Order: sequence, then C-alpha cells, then structure tokens
Amino acid sequence: MKVAVANDHGGYCLRKTVFNYLKENNIDYIDFGTDSDASVDYPDYAKKVAYAVRDGVADAGILICGTGIGIGIAANKVKGIRCAIVHDRFTAEMTKRHNNANIIAFGGRVVDEKTTKEILDGYFNSTFEGGRHQLRVDKITELEK
Ligand code: RB5
Repeated sequence: MKVAVANDHGGYCLRKTVFNYLKENNIDYIDFGTDSDASVDYPDYAKKVAYAVRDGVADAGILICGTGIGIGIAANKVKGIRCAIVHDRFTAEMTKRHNNANIIAFGGRVVDEKTTKEILDGYFNSTFEGGRHQLRVDKITELEK
C-alpha cells in the first residue's frame, strides 16, 4: 500500500501528524508537498495526488487544505478519482465502506491532530463492502462519460 499525500498552506499544520501516522502504521507514502506555510494554490497539489492515484503510482491519497473543500473539489475533476471530504472517523470509515473513496480530503482549519489520527484510522482500517455499493460507484463512474 502506497499513499500519495499533499497539502496547501492551510493544511501544512497537519502534514507531520499524517506522516507520523503513516510511519507508525508501516504505510509507504509519497510526499508531494508543500513543505511550508507560504501561500500556494491548492489545485496544483490536488492534481499531483489525483494523477498519482489515477496512474496507479499510489493506491490512495490524502489531501489537506484549509477546509478540505477546495482541494477535494479539484481532485474530483480527475477521471477515476473519488475524493471524499471527511470530518471525523465516521465519515472517513463510511466513505471507504460505501463509496470506495480513493482519496480523502480534510481541513487543517477544521480538524485537530487527534481527529486527524481518527480519520486515518477510520479510512485505513475499513474495507469497501461492494455489492449494492459497487453498483452505485459504477453509476458515479458512468457520470464521467
Ligand atoms: C487557502 O486560504 C484556502 O482557501 C484553502 O486552503 C482551502 O481552504 C480552500 O478550499
């Protein structure tokens, strides 16, 4: 399992928490930046992670901006990407189980370090349920045509 990670300046505050979690759980990652709180444009970072997941360079992605919203919207413009903007363990778990989200996004100005770890736990310890949910995910894919 390899995870692509990126953030803008609004998500910079949580990147170390994410990397520590991934290291502690022996999950490989690719760091696409940004490694400072200097202002950048979140679509540029969404693109790096979305392309890595789309192209199979990474199995999943984590994106962080101020709210998780802009970077999530941008990632969802890329074909094959299902990026869920999550807020807590429950939403992170459910988006894996029901939507098979291949990227999660959250906000450095919304969630704290504890919630970040819970989000990652919820996402990485859950499995897509398939069945009727696969049918619905297929319908999402249909919308890309
Ligand atoms: C940057 O100030 C902020 O707009 C960005 O991090 C994000 O919250 C956008 O949705």
